[in-house]
Amino acid sequence: MRGSSQSALVTGASSGIGRAVAGRLVDDGIHVLSVDLEPDPDGPGEPFKADLTTRDGNREAVEAALDSFGSLDAVVANAGFQHVSDVAAFDEDRWDALVAILLTSPFLLAKYSWEALKESGRGRFVAIASAHALVASPFKAGYVSAKHGVLGLIKTLALEGAEDRVAAIAVCPAFVRTPLVEKQIAAQAQAHSLPEERVLEEVILAPHAIKRLIEPSEVADAVAMLLGPSGELFTGTAYTMDLGWTAR
Ligand SMILES: NC(=O)c1ccc[n+]([C@@H]2O[C@H](COP(=O)([O-])OP(=O)(O)OC[C@H]3O[C@@H](n4cnc5c(N)ncnc54)[C@H](O)[C@@H]3O)[C@@H](O)[C@H]2O)c1
Repeated sequence: MRGSSQSALVTGASSGIGRAVAGRLVDDGIHVLSVDLEPDPDGPGEPFKADLTTRDGNREAVEAALDSFGSLDAVVANAGFQHVSDVAAFDEDRWDALVAILLTSPFLLAKYSWEALKESGRGRFVAIASAHALVASPFKAGYVSAKHGVLGLIKTLALEGAEDRVAAIAVCPAFVRTPLVEKQIAAQAQAHSLPEERVLEEVILAPHAIKRLIEPSEVADAVAMLLGPSGELFTGTAYTMDLGWTAR
């Protein structure tokens, strides 16, 4: 990234991981366009409203970053949501929306920003994927499928970007303390036939070898490192931070 004029686009920047990433990058002196369906004028970075389940939303977000900063060194594709349901009852519109936000949006963001990332000379395309890019859990067909897909996209981008020193990395955290996790407790309780107060320990933390949630700031630390000079070492990989989940 270029000295004093570094710039980044972060999606899903109003909440949870995206907000922590945007805040950390701003603290590091990077110009950040904070893209969200519900942008927060009081949040870190320059707020920009876009529905990233649409082609126009993704194109407009990249155009806005280039208009504001004149260049783009990094994209952090983070926006997402979860839907918990067994496959027979899985709502087809929710499937389409999950694929749109978790897989198609990163593809479109990469497509529209690619020339700018190449021009950067040390461009970064980071997707906040998930441990669910590597392993499955029941009742998450749409999320797990899209997250496995985005890891494939990242590997492809790494190969296509290498000559121009564009690095692409999929960050793969276990469960992080955010509204996305809080919102799934009721649905997990229903799917697993458990009272809500047992969901955290018996469902959410069950696959973690170390029994704690990750903090959003810890994911932001990882992204900051990946946007730094040594980040390119990780191109094409799943940067796994899963408290031992996939060691089993
Ligand atoms: N929380 C976890 O345990 C966890 C673990 C691994 C990976 N992730 C991934 O991290 C990313 C962020 O998750 P989070 O937990 O911070 O969630 P969150 O719910 O706290 O924040 C998600 C943000 O994305 C935005 N968003 C949703 N749909 C959008 C759309 N159509 N257009 C624009 N913005 C939209 C929301 O408005 C929200 O601000 C997601 O991709 C998620 O899959 C989360």
